Amino acid sequence: MSRCKVIAGNWKMNLNAAQGVELIEKLKGEVGGCSCGCCDHGPEVVVCPPFTTLPAVVAAAKGSCLKVGAQNIHWAENGAFTGEISGSMLTAAGVTHVIVGHSERRQYFGETDATVNQRLLAGLANGLTVIVCVGELLSERVAGTTKAVIERQVRAALAGVDAAAMAGVIIAYEPVWAIGTGKVATTEEAQEVHAFIRALLKQLFACPCVAETTRILYGGSMNPGNAVGLLAQKDIDGGLIGGASLKADQFAALIRAAR
Ligand code: PGA
Repeated sequence: MSRCKVIAGNWKMNLNAAQGVELIEKLKGEVGGCSCGCCDHGPEVVVCPPFTTLPAVVAAAKGSCLKVGAQNIHWAENGAFTGEISGSMLTAAGVTHVIVGHSERRQYFGETDATVNQRLLAGLANGLTVIVCVGELLSERVAGTTKAVIERQVRAALAGVDAAAMAGVIIAYEPVWAIGTGKVATTEEAQEVHAFIRALLKQLFACPCVAETTRILYGGSMNPGNAVGLLAQKDIDGGLIGGASLKADQFAALIRAAR
C-alpha cells in the first residue's frame, strides 16, 4: 500500500508574521496553486509556525496545497491554563495539523508521556491531524535502550486511540541527538527504528491497515543533502524538518526530494 509522503516544517520559535508570509510566498511557487491537499502532485506539505504567526500564514497559504499546523495544543477546551492554546482556537484559526510531544517540549517544558497522550487525543477530537514525536536521547542509544524508549513513548502516546482514529495520526521519529546538531542518523539507523515502530503498530492494532497506512516521518538534521537517502527507505514516509524549513530554497529542495 502506498503512503503519501509528508514534508513538515517545524519553525519552532522563529519567524514573525511578516517573515512567515515572505517564506510562504516563496514556497507557493514550489507546491503549485492546487487545493487538492493530496499527493497527486507531490508530498503533503505542512508548515508549523509559532502561534502568533499562524493566522497570517493560513491567509498566505490559501489556494495552495500548503497545510498549516501548530506546535502545541492543550487538552482542555478553555480555562485557566496560562500560556496554552485549545484545539478549537487552532481550528478557528484555520489550522489543520498539530505537533505534539516534540523532544524540546519533553526536555524543557516538562512534557510527559501522559500529557503527550492527552494533547494527541485533544488534537484528534478537534479533527486535527496530529504529528506525534518520539525519540531517544544519546545516552539511551548508547545504553542500547532505543527500542524500549520508542516502544514506551509510542504505546503511551497512542493510548485510547482506535484504528479509525489513526487516520489522523502521523508519527515522527526524531532521535534527540540528531535534532539541531547536524548529526543525522544513518539511513540504516533510521530505517531500523521506523520498521520497529511499524511492527509495533501491527501489534497494537488488530487491523493491519494501521501499520500499512500510518506515515512515519524522520526528523533530526534532515537537509537536501541527506534527504534522498532517508526518503528512499521503505518505512520512511517523509520528514519533520526544523532548521532547513526556515529557508525557502532548502525546504523547496526537500519537497522536490519527496516527489
Ligand atoms: P532539525 O529539527 O531539522 O533542526 O534538526 C528537527 C525537529 O526538531 O523537528
